[in-house]
Amino acid sequence: MKRSRSAIIGIAAVVALAGCGSGPAPAGEPGGHGGQLTMGFSQVGAESGWRTANTQSIQDAAKAADVNLKFSDAGGKQENQIAAIRSFVQQRVDVIAFSPVVRTGWDAVLLEAKNAGIPVILTDRAVDTEETDVYRTFVGADFVAEGRRAGDWVVQRHASAPGPVNIVQLEGTTGADPAIERNTGFAEAIAANPDLKIIASQSGDFTRSGGKQVMEAFLKAHPKIDLVFAQNDDMGLGAMEAIEAAGLKPGKDIEIVAIDATHDGMAALAAGKFNYIVECNPLIGPQLMELAADVVAGKPIPARVVIPDEAFDSQQAAAALPDRKY
Ligand code: AHR
Repeated sequence: MKRSRSAIIGIAAVVALAGCGSGPAPAGEPGGHGGQLTMGFSQVGAESGWRTANTQSIQDAAKAADVNLKFSDAGGKQENQIAAIRSFVQQRVDVIAFSPVVRTGWDAVLLEAKNAGIPVILTDRAVDTEETDVYRTFVGADFVAEGRRAGDWVVQRHASAPGPVNIVQLEGTTGADPAIERNTGFAEAIAANPDLKIIASQSGDFTRSGGKQVMEAFLKAHPKIDLVFAQNDDMGLGAMEAIEAAGLKPGKDIEIVAIDATHDGMAALAAGKFNYIVECNPLIGPQLMELAADVVAGKPIPARVVIPDEAFDSQQAAAALPDRKY
């Protein structure tokens, strides 16, 4: 299946039906565990609070669904993910799932899985590929929509006060699907108001330390910063620390808009140190296990499953925090 963003229309929308699964290996054969499904999962790493919650969701859901999970943490390196996927192919697991660090460079290893008859499910992040039918489905958020929603809030917030608004952007990992797509969505939305200007934009690698370091440099280089768009909570929290260390008030002197809605981000929002958060729900483990069971059983599955997101201002964050699951 080739990736086509225009085909994404919503969680309930079955955009197309993916091909049939290869069927589970019989018990006693490689990959066969007396009926128990074996999944090889390659995770990006542990760069953020979001990622920790996502890993927990996948591990908990595998346990609940009695899936034999072979979990591998790539430490943020594509070469480690490729090695893990190759090893899953060699072990003849029933299904491979992974959240790709970056969008390109997967064709060879995806072809290897396809040629071995092992279905692949993309979780959280998409890939660009020229090959056809190398993965069965992609389950994850709509990152362009997340960026757009953050930008729409900025447009509304500054609609009634004319004059330039200097925005700095903390981008995610270079080449990663959410970094590319949140850039696009945010830029599209703020184009509605020419007063909104991105004066600097740099990767903080989706980490708190990266966000802090980049924000420190931005504060030195730019005497007037009005707003930070952090492409995840962790970088926003790093920026918040840098702003406080510079003797300024985050949320007041410099506004912070972020994406994820992790517990720490929501606490900062409830405390008035962030101004707005667009959610990116990491709890996709149960859906992944259902899709994996269906694909292995040869049932048709949707080619794209979009995880819906909410958004929060300060009051809404305070109300939501007690029941927050991550
Ligand atoms: O791919 C999802 C993104 O990756 C999350 O927004 C971010 O926190 C994580 O590192």
